[in-house]
Amino acid sequence: MRARSKIAMIVDCDPGLDDAIALALAACAPEIEMEAITTVAGNAPIERVTDNALSIAAALALKTPVYAGAAAPLREKAHYSTMIWGGNGSLPIKRPRRGALTEPAMDFLTRKLEQAEENSLLLCMLGPLTNLGAILLRKPELSRKISRLMIMGGALGAGNATRSAEFNMWFDPHAAQRVLSSDITCVIMPLDLTRTVIPTSQHLKKLARSEHPAAQLCAKLLLSQTEGQPEAVHDACVIGCLLWPDLFDFERGTLSINMGPGPARGQTRFAPGDGPHMLITGVELTPFLDKLIWRLTAKGMRAK
Ligand code: BDR
Ligand code: CA
Repeated sequence: MRARSKIAMIVDCDPGLDDAIALALAACAPEIEMEAITTVAGNAPIERVTDNALSIAAALALKTPVYAGAAAPLREKAHYSTMIWGGNGSLPIKRPRRGALTEPAMDFLTRKLEQAEENSLLLCMLGPLTNLGAILLRKPELSRKISRLMIMGGALGAGNATRSAEFNMWFDPHAAQRVLSSDITCVIMPLDLTRTVIPTSQHLKKLARSEHPAAQLCAKLLLSQTEGQPEAVHDACVIGCLLWPDLFDFERGTLSINMGPGPARGQTRFAPGDGPHMLITGVELTPFLDKLIWRLTAKGMRAK
């Protein structure tokens, strides 16, 4: 995979500590132009994750528009990650002054896709796939406007929502399967890999010492949310893969999601071969973490 010089994209997310680190990294990257942030219920109810997205944008001095998305999975009741891992899903940062735009995220995304040229839109999916799943159910032809999806989700080994399912896929397996069964090219960053990407205490110290707003935000979140215990920065791996693709290994094939019901709900299956999915299978961990911290702390590199 080769890096492009300027990457325009929309980030669909459910912040979330690791979504926040991902947004901070994207904000610090001169190669990236973040056109919009759309939210989706997952880590917490839609009002809370949208509020978090707005707070993160304010902390990073981002003017990027924020649109609120789906409040519940396509077919079932929402079971937020706070119900599994505790907490109330509110990030410990200053509440935002501005609100989300009044246009719902699904309308915004549909409009963007309708106006886009074929094979032109890049979307980073950092939460459950409900927004895009709902759009493709109504207008499957819009899939051809998407150049690539970068998705955090899935687990071939142990899960985090259940023994076998990763949270984003488990929260809305019907939406996930709808998206994955289209012919869209997807780069999938699975939990098997992201759970190993944990900043060291040295990294946290570097962040805490930096005056850069992105570093301050990340230090505050990583230190406060984890009581000093470094935590995996799952969603940030997606942005890192866009920026430094050569640090990652992948295998081509086809991914599918068990739609349940039953204990296998949300479980990921991968069939290697000639499919539309690129499953990320490895990362050069130390260079990746060093680059992540360097970007978040780089002098003279302001958030946009
Ligand atoms: C994923 O689930 C969410 O809780 C995180 O933000 C991440 O997107 C990890 O399974
Ligand atoms: Ca997320």
